[in-house]
Amino acid sequence: MSKKKSNFKNIELFWNVQFIYELVLAQLELQSFDIDYQISEDFRNFSIKDFPDLELFLSRTAYFQSAHSKSSLYRSITSKNISRSINQYLTHWFYPYKGKFHPQMIRALINYMKIKEGETILDPFIGSGTTAVEAQLLGINCVGVDISEVCSLISQVKVNSTSYLEEIIFNQTEFEEKLGIEIGIAHV
Ligand SMILES: C[S@@+](CC[C@H](N)C(=O)[O-])C[C@H]1O[C@@H](n2cnc3c(N)ncnc32)[C@H](O)[C@@H]1O
Repeated sequence: MSKKKSNFKNIELFWNVQFIYELVLAQLELQSFDIDYQISEDFRNFSIKDFPDLELFLSRTAYFQSAHSKSSLYRSITSKNISRSINQYLTHWFYPYKGKFHPQMIRALINYMKIKEGETILDPFIGSGTTAVEAQLLGINCVGVDISEVCSLISQVKVNSTSYLEEIIFNQTEFEEKLGIEIGIAHV
């Protein structure tokens, strides 16, 4: 009897995906990109027949680290993390806000809602700005409101900080001397 070769391999979940809601969101991501898939009994392995738009999927997915042996953009961004946590990339780690959503979940929900580049999200409870940062990364506008002025400030710092990157790099030594800290700059 010939052994049937499994083809549950051409798309890979991130190693950190563990909760049921994440496995459900991962499937919803595939559905929102109109991808025809088969799934294993443990819901962790997928087989894709065809990707209508592989490049778009790789640039937007939150829960898959690769497809057809190509890395997703999310994998490349999170591989530059200073901390070991997958959800602490770019400016997401700036402030340890207790009520913060997981960026990965927000990104998957944006995909599920099929919000496109150039469209606008309103988050009336912006908190520490997770939705704002994810929207910015995906080229989506975001309007945020929060009862807390601190939250409003944190969110603004998180999305506006990239505009100051060149200035920070240019004045790195001066800032380090003034602040008495070492500024680590990751080149993405
Ligand atoms: C769970 S956090 C939001 C997380 C955020 N959306 C994110 O992307 O990480 C909830 C936020 O709602 C804010 N909030 C609570 N009541 C509010 C109200 N009546 N108007 C505006 N913001 C409010 C709180 O200050 C808190 O920052």
